[in-house]
Amino acid sequence: MIEGFDDIKEFIRRSLNAEEPVHVLLVGAPGTAKTLFLMEIERLGGRFITAGTSTRVGIRDVLFDETPRILIVDEVEKVSDQKDLSALLTWMESGRIIVTKHGMQGEKRGKVWVFGACNSDEKLSPELKDRFQVFYIKSYTEEQFRRIVANYLSKRMKVRRDLAAYIAERVGEYTTSVREAVRVARISKSKKDVDSNISIIKKYKE
Ligand SMILES: Nc1ncnc2c1ncn2[C@@H]1O[C@H](COP(=O)(O)OP(=O)(O)OP(=O)(O)O)[C@@H](O)[C@H]1O
Ligand SMILES: [Mg+2]
Repeated sequence: MIEGFDDIKEFIRRSLNAEEPVHVLLVGAPGTAKTLFLMEIERLGGRFITAGTSTRVGIRDVLFDETPRILIVDEVEKVSDQKDLSALLTWMESGRIIVTKHGMQGEKRGKVWVFGACNSDEKLSPELKDRFQVFYIKSYTEEQFRRIVANYLSKRMKVRRDLAAYIAERVGEYTTSVREAVRVARISKSKKDVDSNISIIKKYKE
C-alpha cells in the first residue's frame, strides 16, 4: 500500500518484533506518507490518536484505561496537555503509569510501542523527541513522485495505467505533491482533461 520506504517498513517490523519497545517518529513535509504509515500500523492492532483534535479522551486516559500495546499518535507536536505529555513520557520509558482518579490512586503497567508523526519537530519537547528513533522524510524527488503517483493512481484509484502515468508526468513538471495529483485525477477522464485542468491550475498558481 505504501510505495517505497522498504527500509523504514523493515525497521518498524523489527521494532514490533523486539522484546522491548523502540519508538519511532516520522518527521516530514506534508503528503509524504506519514499518516499512511501510521494507518498501516493501526491495522496491526494499534490504538490511533490524532493529537489536537477536539476529542476529550486524552492520551493519559487511553494509556491508563486501555493499556494499548501499540499507541499511534499522529500530529504529535500538538500534544499540549501537560498531564498527557508526562504520562506519555513515563509510559514510553518505564511502561508504568500512576493516576489519581476520583480521589483514588491507581497504577497500571504494560509495555507500549509508540509510533508518531509530525511535520516539524521544532515544537516537540526535547525529552519526548529523545525517546523516539526519529526518521526525517524528505519531500519526494521528481522520479520518486512519478513512480509513487503512477502506482497510487492506478492501483488505489483504479485510473487507467496510461492515464495515471500521464498525470504523474504532467503534475510532476511543477510539483511533487501527491495530493495535487489525486485532485487532478479525480476530475480527469482523459489526457485532454488533464491538460485542461492543469492549465487552469497553472494560470492561478502563486
Ligand atoms: N509513498 C506513498 N505511497 C502511497 N501513497 C502515498 C505515498 N506518499 C503519499 N501518498 C498519498 O498521498 C496522500 C497523503 O499521504 P499522507 O496522508 O500519509 O501524508 P502525511 O505525510 O501524513 O501528510 P501531512 O503531513 O499533510 O499529514 C495519501 O492519499 C497517500 O495515500
Ligand atoms: Mg498526516
